[in-house]
Amino acid sequence: MKAPSIHLIAGARPNFMKIAPLYHALAREPWCHVSIVHTGQHYDADMSDNFFRDLGLPQPDFHLNVGSGTHAEQTAGVMVGYDRLCGENAPAWTIVVGDVNSTIACALTAAKLGIPIAHLEAGLRSRDRSMPEEINRIATDAISDLLWTPSADADENLRAEGVPAERIERVGNIMIDAYEMLRDRIEREATREQFGLPSRGYGVVTLHRPSNVDDRATLASLVGQLVTVAARVPLVFPLHPRTRRRIDEFDLMGTVSGTPGLHTVTPMSYLPFMGLVREAGFVVTDSGGLQEETTYLGIPCLTLRSNTERPITVLKGTNRLVPAHQLQDAVAAVLSGTWPAGERPELWDGHTAQRIAASLRSRLVPAAG
Ligand code: UD1
Repeated sequence: MKAPSIHLIAGARPNFMKIAPLYHALAREPWCHVSIVHTGQHYDADMSDNFFRDLGLPQPDFHLNVGSGTHAEQTAGVMVGYDRLCGENAPAWTIVVGDVNSTIACALTAAKLGIPIAHLEAGLRSRDRSMPEEINRIATDAISDLLWTPSADADENLRAEGVPAERIERVGNIMIDAYEMLRDRIEREATREQFGLPSRGYGVVTLHRPSNVDDRATLASLVGQLVTVAARVPLVFPLHPRTRRRIDEFDLMGTVSGTPGLHTVTPMSYLPFMGLVREAGFVVTDSGGLQEETTYLGIPCLTLRSNTERPITVLKGTNRLVPAHQLQDAVAAVLSGTWPAGERPELWDGHTAQRIAASLRSRLVPAAG
């Protein structure tokens, strides 16, 4: 008898490190057949292919080639593509991860086709509905059959929204599995040395949220802050395509590239990037995943946002929300050694993929209970 088929959906850069440990765990199991569906939301080599290579993922089994567009175009494009794929190859379960447009698009399509859905990284809430990801999170959780959460706050959010307890399973943080799976190779990377930077003597910067980069005055002020910080401590700033475009459009590239301590580079793939982060003195970011990775690694994280869907990284970890105008003070606190040390949240232990495989098995192979 053919093993039941599972679709693992990935579309954008932050999805790839979440599906990788799960793909590797499920590919070993005889009771299911796992396929990777790439929606094509991210398509540049340095936003996609290089991650597949670093994470040891095979070529996707299915590619929907949706590409860029407005939120409606992108979400609708993925829905049409995934609907067609399910028409020919309906899976027994669809697994979606994170909160990007591909996540909600495939969940919505599967729900209408009656295909059971599991959402990995469920229950996170920023309570800021101006963030497209918050809409994606709420909507995906509302229609998923099984909600795999990373932390107790996520369970509470779901319960408060009336989700029955039997649909919620706390499995831990899958990003940590990706790090642990590749720890040896990450530790062998020499990214820091290539930049000629001393261990703990530099910061890593990533910015890509529309709220930070799409408005000229906001981005100009952030760049100004980074220039001031870079005069004290070197910064490495891999530029997301959206951010690079805005920096060009707003005529800020001269300032950025004319600042000796501010090293701008193209987006880095997983291994060299994590190699750089693990030895950094601090991270300045608006990313979700980096708030978690820095908490795990015990590295000060200065999040340039007014809220976070990952409050545990602030409550327990090394993350703090920093208004842009306080960036210099925050960096000064890091440099003077007064940043809080933090601790690792429960179940952020590198065994999340195993717990997920067991959870899925108990549903697909009922006797396994
Ligand atoms: C998406 C996710 C965001 C995630 C981020 C990580 C949504 C709503 N947003 O935002 O949650 O944190 O990915 O990167 O799903 N582009 C390229 N090459 C690519 C991909 C994009 O040049 O391979 C450019 C395009 O001009 C595109 C723009 O970047 O319009 C933004 O890409 P998009 O996928 O729409 O959103 P992100 O900002 O990357």
